Amino acid sequence: MQLSLKTIKDPAALRTGCLILPVTEGGALQGGAAVVDRACGLRLSKLIAAEHFSGAAGRTLLAHALPGLAAARVVLMGVGKSGALDAGGWRKSVSAALALSRSTGTVDAVLLIDGVQVKNREEAWLVRQAGTLAVTGSYRYVRTLSKPEPAARLVRLAVARSGKPSRTLAAVLAEGGAIGRGMNLARELGNTPPNICTPRHLAEQARALARRYPKLRCRVLDEKQMLALGMHSLLSVTAGAQEPARLIVLEYRGAAREEQPFALVGKGVTFDSGGISLKPGPGMDEMKFDMCGAASVLGTMQALAETGPKLNVVAVIAACENMPSGSATRPGDVVKSMAGITIEILNTDAEGRLILCDAITYVKRFKPRTIVDIATLTGACVVALGKHATGLFSNDDALAAELLAAGQDAHDRAWQMPLWDDYQEHLKSNFADVANIGGPNGGSVIAACFLSRFATGEKWAHLDIAGTAWDQGPAKGATGRPVGLLVRYLLAQA
Ligand code: BES
Ligand code: MN
Ligand code: ZN
Repeated sequence: MQLSLKTIKDPAALRTGCLILPVTEGGALQGGAAVVDRACGLRLSKLIAAEHFSGAAGRTLLAHALPGLAAARVVLMGVGKSGALDAGGWRKSVSAALALSRSTGTVDAVLLIDGVQVKNREEAWLVRQAGTLAVTGSYRYVRTLSKPEPAARLVRLAVARSGKPSRTLAAVLAEGGAIGRGMNLARELGNTPPNICTPRHLAEQARALARRYPKLRCRVLDEKQMLALGMHSLLSVTAGAQEPARLIVLEYRGAAREEQPFALVGKGVTFDSGGISLKPGPGMDEMKFDMCGAASVLGTMQALAETGPKLNVVAVIAACENMPSGSATRPGDVVKSMAGITIEILNTDAEGRLILCDAITYVKRFKPRTIVDIATLTGACVVALGKHATGLFSNDDALAAELLAAGQDAHDRAWQMPLWDDYQEHLKSNFADVANIGGPNGGSVIAACFLSRFATGEKWAHLDIAGTAWDQGPAKGATGRPVGLLVRYLLAQA
């Protein structure tokens, strides 16, 4: 998708396959849209009246071959009551208008934003969102389909406005596009079946990114190297698998070498069967999405490489499978983590924390300014927050506030959960320093408490994306979250 920002004088003269015009509730056409309406002899307002077009956010109407216009078609895009359009409403409006444009088979479209106001958001925000939605809206999974639907032809979108040209807005639109492409990368990796998307495949993707972007560097550790580092906790998870595990280190350098990096740590379990604590059969295929934390880290790193902020970021991805076999870890086994803390594994299905704890310990050697881990960690988080909010846990209030704000900004929202000491006692073990599970309640908090023991002395946050990383049902597929949140957080640090 090619995105551009256009400053226009006469919208009626815009030569495009599809001109998208905002219409407020009650059918009012403003600014450039009113100019277009007059140029075609008020055909648009007549159509709006004849079709009882409400102009509610998400409603659209298509018109062809209007006299007096250079555009081949017009899509009327409802944007709701004047002054009442909120962030979600704008996303709905743009998505619907672009979907209708795409369905016409047009190759290019122009989205006019004159007069659109989103509550509590600036023009830059709505431009960035349009960029992201244009890119994510054109994603289709086709990799393993022998007869995929033909690809959408819409490949060029111009965001158009009257007034002065703005360099800032053009950059913001490009940033929105980069976020969208980062999300699409995360979605593609998440959707790719687990017999293809293995730990080695993830490592190859990271290497490919480093080859493509000069500011990225990649190093991949194999099991032997992890063993030498004492990552027995991580290795205990891969013990039952045939596929070898990988620890992927991807660095983005946008600032001076001596500047401390921000750290991202991703859970990359390419298939989580539960191990000896085997999961029930129904829906087990969805555990291919258990690497979506890792995928979001790769998508974020790509977006950074494309936008080039002046900061350093180090990403560590712990990638492995969790499988049952004769060599698999048993419930009751005790392993020593890289940090020296011994862990009694009471449930082999609580494996995410076992790989993340060693990855967090490892990333400390980069002296990071903050550490954010991203993981499809607990079913309990889905119970607590559903599919809308990512669970946020942190030992640092300022970091938590920044991540929450970044999530609001990207409309990729997180909700803070407690990380109180009161919960820590549930992790007591008679046979090791810590157990890998607590009781039946508060599962997402207890998982975060487990991780917190390995993040001592660091400004650390944990994002539980178990509910937000993929959609279920007929639209089953990875969402690309929380790439938007992460990119907005990191760009705000530059
Ligand atoms: N990957 C799962 C978490 C998960 C489950 C995410 C369902 C999304 C949907 C994780 O490894 C896991 O199995 N967690 C267990 C922890 C339990 C054994 C304490 C869970 O949530 O059931
Ligand atoms: Mn599990
Ligand atoms: Zn898992």
